[in-house]
Amino acid sequence: MTLPELELYRELIEENLDRLLPPEDMIPRSIHRSIRYSACGGGKRLRGILCLLACEAVGGGREKALPASCALEMVHAYSLIHDDLPCMDDDDLRRGKPTNHLVFGEAIALLAGDALLTAAIKVMATKAPAGMEELYRQALVEMITAVDTEGMIGGQVLDLEAEGKDVTLEELMEIHRKKTGALITAALRMGGIIGRGDKKQLAALTEYGRSFGLAFQIGDDLLDCVGDAKKMGKKAGSDRKKNKATYPALLGIEESRRFLRLEVDKAKEALAPLGERAALLSKLADYLVGREC
Ligand code: IPE
Ligand code: IPE
Ligand code: MG
Ligand code: MG
Ligand code: MG
Repeated sequence: MTLPELELYRELIEENLDRLLPPEDMIPRSIHRSIRYSACGGGKRLRGILCLLACEAVGGGREKALPASCALEMVHAYSLIHDDLPCMDDDDLRRGKPTNHLVFGEAIALLAGDALLTAAIKVMATKAPAGMEELYRQALVEMITAVDTEGMIGGQVLDLEAEGKDVTLEELMEIHRKKTGALITAALRMGGIIGRGDKKQLAALTEYGRSFGLAFQIGDDLLDCVGDAKKMGKKAGSDRKKNKATYPALLGIEESRRFLRLEVDKAKEALAPLGERAALLSKLADYLVGREC
């Protein structure tokens, strides 16, 4: 759970995801069960929520951005399934359950990830509210650019290649900005575009997203050191086991917390041009300090 006032947004995303994804009994059943196992009924829905909040922050109605927020959560679920594979982080617990490949096997897990990415693109291309097709096309470009080799995939490659190596703070920041920050920034920009935000508003959302995304991954690194597996729904200590490049490994716990707070402050400052409508985005940035899941 992020903030109680965002529970409604989370529920909207859950309901719509359920409607947009193929039913479990569709043939072949294995892949459809695998897709729903990872994509439905779990997670904070942060990227989807950020998209809805960004749409509202520029004066749009959140229901207009709902298909996009579900597409974002599909992409995110795909990234988690693949991130947990034995050839990647080799993790066995996710969202409080055994990881997808442990239940469905590596081949189906791999294909479920592929299918979720494909489904996300299909939603963006076919589920735009009437008259918003061009805005959804622009938002789709944002989404796929964020997860290509310049964004999330590139970041995941850098993350794997940095295992066991010494990295500089600049290099680490680059890994985090790409593997996690890019999709988070895209979520905000997509909401801003769908809400018909102007240039100034989009620039503010982008700046907020860059700081929020970095702060979020620093927080994730910290939780891997000091978090409670029960609350997180994933195991702590995974990064140390794999000798990952993380903020705590490079700077220690206290200094990492300081960097996180600094990025949260920057994120909140970036919201100034959006005024009162961005109050929930500001609150959500505050939640990153001391989050437990
Ligand atoms: C986990 O993301 C993966 C990272 C990019 C750090 P979240 O912490 O948002 O995962 P869920 O969606 O809530 O499970
Ligand atoms: C995940 O980073 C980034 C993506 C899924 C793209 P992590 O590997 O740190 O995420 P967790 O800790 O497994 O959730
Ligand atoms: Mg990883
Ligand atoms: Mg991982
Ligand atoms: Mg992590």
